[in-house]
Amino acid sequence: MLTEVSSAPIGILGAMKEEVAGLLACMESVREVHVGMRTFYCGRLMNREVVLVISRIGKVAAASTVSALIHQFQVSEVIFTGVAGSLRPEVKVGDIVLAKRLLQHDMDASPLMPRFEIPLLDITWFLTPDLQMQQAEKALQDVINDADHHRLLTDEVLQRFQMTQPSFWIGDVISGDQFVSSHSQKKELQQLHPTALCVEMEGAAVAQICYEYQIPFTIIRTISDNADDHSEFDFPLFIKEVASRYSVEAIRRLLA
Ligand code: ADE
Repeated sequence: MLTEVSSAPIGILGAMKEEVAGLLACMESVREVHVGMRTFYCGRLMNREVVLVISRIGKVAAASTVSALIHQFQVSEVIFTGVAGSLRPEVKVGDIVLAKRLLQHDMDASPLMPRFEIPLLDITWFLTPDLQMQQAEKALQDVINDADHHRLLTDEVLQRFQMTQPSFWIGDVISGDQFVSSHSQKKELQQLHPTALCVEMEGAAVAQICYEYQIPFTIIRTISDNADDHSEFDFPLFIKEVASRYSVEAIRRLLA
């Protein structure tokens, strides 16, 4: 669906090994390049040149990885795929969220600047470019419509995560260097950012670097937990069994 305007590769990131493992298995002619304690997998996916990399967790790790993708691999755009904790009762485990706006919820340079504003950039919410929104919306809607859960996931996994037909959400995503795992943390974020659908640890950092270098970006998240006292429960299993499979479906449709 993305229009190939140049031979520049597309950068694809996930924060954890399990999140990108499925994509790596689908790649062809893979060449490994080691830079800055990361392995960049250069190759072809769905007949497109891509560079796939594990960013590691958190805003600094994600920002430095995106910088390397831009400067060392000259990517033409960036796609981040991973998981997030829900901040809304109606956004359920297994749902997919496409970020339209992203904010860093732990940025606070007040009283020098308003809380949450990125210093000297005058930006609080980063916006996903329109074209990327349109392409990703179509691709993810297809993933949801075609999601044959019983082909993609075992009955045991569906039951364990109490998953039914997933929903697709578009809206605000907030990022910070915190795994949100208590009711009080969650409540505070909900009060401060009532429009946010979910919380994660990298998206708004990726958006900031892409904004600064004018590189189009797309941030896709599968809801893995409810960002409360049970959020670490079964987290690794969810990533391996559910999120990595959704990532493959989403990216394949986006690149097709
Ligand atoms: N990513 C997935 N779940 C999360 C949570 N509860 N907090 C922050 N990032 C997450």
